[in-house]
Amino acid sequence: MINDILNKEELNKEEIVSLLRTEDCQDVQLLFQKADEVRKVYCGDEVHLRGIIEFSNYCEQDCLYCGLRKSNSVLERYRMSSAEIMQTAKAIYNMGIQTIVLQSGEDFSFGGNDIANIISSIKKKFDVAITLSLGERDYEEYKLWKTSGADRYLLKHETSNPGLYPVYHSNQKLKDRVDHLYFLKSIGYQIGSGNIISLPRQTIEDIADDILLCRELDVDMASFSPFISSPYTPYRKRKNADLTFTLKVMAAARIVLKNVHIPATTAIATLDEFGREKGLQAGANVIMPNFTPNPYREKFSIYANKKCAKDNPLDCPSCLENSISLLGRKVATGKGQSLKV
Ligand code: 5AD
Ligand code: FES
Repeated sequence: MINDILNKEELNKEEIVSLLRTEDCQDVQLLFQKADEVRKVYCGDEVHLRGIIEFSNYCEQDCLYCGLRKSNSVLERYRMSSAEIMQTAKAIYNMGIQTIVLQSGEDFSFGGNDIANIISSIKKKFDVAITLSLGERDYEEYKLWKTSGADRYLLKHETSNPGLYPVYHSNQKLKDRVDHLYFLKSIGYQIGSGNIISLPRQTIEDIADDILLCRELDVDMASFSPFISSPYTPYRKRKNADLTFTLKVMAAARIVLKNVHIPATTAIATLDEFGREKGLQAGANVIMPNFTPNPYREKFSIYANKKCAKDNPLDCPSCLENSISLLGRKVATGKGQSLKV
């Protein structure tokens, strides 16, 4: 039965839901195997590394699930200086990693020009691709940053359920989020979207829609990360996502989306000691090692016990390389551009 679905070229919502509902151990293995095959066909054996700099944990938003939410008055806030950001960018580049992800909460005290200056300074010094993950900003700012040299924008839709979106996000609208994504794409960014798996009230059908929304948006990158409860948020007592279920979502996403980059997230590594490795064997082809320096690193606490929140070097690249080669894979050289060009 599951084989019939796995062998179809294009899956509909009902079929994705049945993949996600699969409980039989053998079927689950078949699902992971198929995802691994599809990954190999479209992405090869290379694993792309994207070095993240979490340069500010200030956030104007109040997402119910996120530890950085504005109402969390317990969290000590920080902003890295331009010099600190440049130093970190250099460390990433020196490790041979050619994508730098600049991530922050929605922090408007970094104005359009501040971010533009950071982008152009990095681009001037290092031959890297730049991904921005700064939340929703003005359309004029997106344009400015593109002309300053940014290549990609990561803005997860988080949930594709238009009824739940405003519940998690202080009455904001899914449509606005999606409009931002289409705009980013229209001005030439490679775009990334995705969801959080097992948010309160979310159904399996919602998750199938999350995957389908990524297909509709024709994203270059899609990130499906497990919900992990975060203290000092309204969802602090909610259950974390299950590891196997998370892997099933990633596998189904790979089978449906085919030629997109899919990360094995820090969140899955937090759920399970070998979460990343398991993710890489269930469809993922990207890892995003964290380069945020101390003492800031542990303060970017989106959720509890975030992997490598304290140790330094966090994600030691030679350890990563080791575990990647143990899987019979190799670290990619180059920038790891969109698979759609
Ligand atoms: N569990 C998992 N992922 C989370 N994020 C925010 N809060 C959580 C949580 N509790 C994710 C969001 C956001 C990214 C930076 O972190 O998807 O886009
Ligand atoms: Fe900052 Fe969600 S709490 S964007």
